[in-house]
Amino acid sequence: MVEEINERISSSIGCRMLVENDQDEVDKLMLNSFAAREPITQALNPTHKDLIDFHVNVWAKNYLTQGASFGAYKVETGELIATILMGIPCESKEQKFNDVGYKMTKFLNDLNLDLPDEAKASRCASIAVVTVREDYCNKGIMTALWDRCKLIGKAYNCIYLTSECTSLYTQKVAKKLGYCVLNNVKYSEYTDEATNEKWFASAKPPHLTAQMVCLKLV
Ligand SMILES: CC(C)(COP(=O)(O)OP(=O)(O)OC[C@H]1O[C@@H](n2cnc3c(N)ncnc32)[C@H](O)[C@@H]1OP(=O)(O)O)[C@@H](O)C(=O)NCCC(=O)NCCS
Repeated sequence: MVEEINERISSSIGCRMLVENDQDEVDKLMLNSFAAREPITQALNPTHKDLIDFHVNVWAKNYLTQGASFGAYKVETGELIATILMGIPCESKEQKFNDVGYKMTKFLNDLNLDLPDEAKASRCASIAVVTVREDYCNKGIMTALWDRCKLIGKAYNCIYLTSECTSLYTQKVAKKLGYCVLNNVKYSEYTDEATNEKWFASAKPPHLTAQMVCLKLV
């Protein structure tokens, strides 16, 4: 796809596109690295079955089959230690979600309402599920990977890159890489209008808000 994706991040950390054969390793990172620490997943207190039903069988599977995702691996062993699952616009499928999936999707869709009309009418690539294995965190790996999303967006002729940053740490990455913040929603305030419930009020500091961020590519 894009040769530059394969440039090493450091002498011991490589980077490559993900393929459908990576599903088991991606699922493992989704469960043990992403879902175990991501603020809005954690706030919903999901069961293991919830995570298998939505995070693994819907989210990870859908993104991996689109072919636009990539990740970082240990050069020594080839083991994946980080992923960026990206979504490219496609026909939206009617999908039935479990409760966790419904609440997360509703919240992320609400965040996207503030996307400017120009972006809504353009082709946007979304940076959807990002994680770095905990023992490799806080070393700049996500910042280095996120910077490469531009290569994927351009390869798919997208005008914008967007992301819903639910972690303070990805908000810092997006800010450093020049993304605009289009929406900033406090977990303590977000209320579902149908039930009046504050689904994410128990999100743990330092992750206090979710931000919708956007970068124009051309
Ligand atoms: C969010 C996540 C991907 C960040 O990955 P990472 O490789 O550690 O990120 P980086 O090393 O590039 O750091 C990005 C910024 O966050 C800060 N940061 C990262 N981990 C931190 C920690 N544990 N404590 C304090 N700051 C931290 C870094 O210092 C850096 O800030 P700076 O730009 O001011 O220096 C990782 O923590 C993770 O997988 N979390 C669980 C899943 C999740 O929340 N995904 C994001 C959903 S949007």
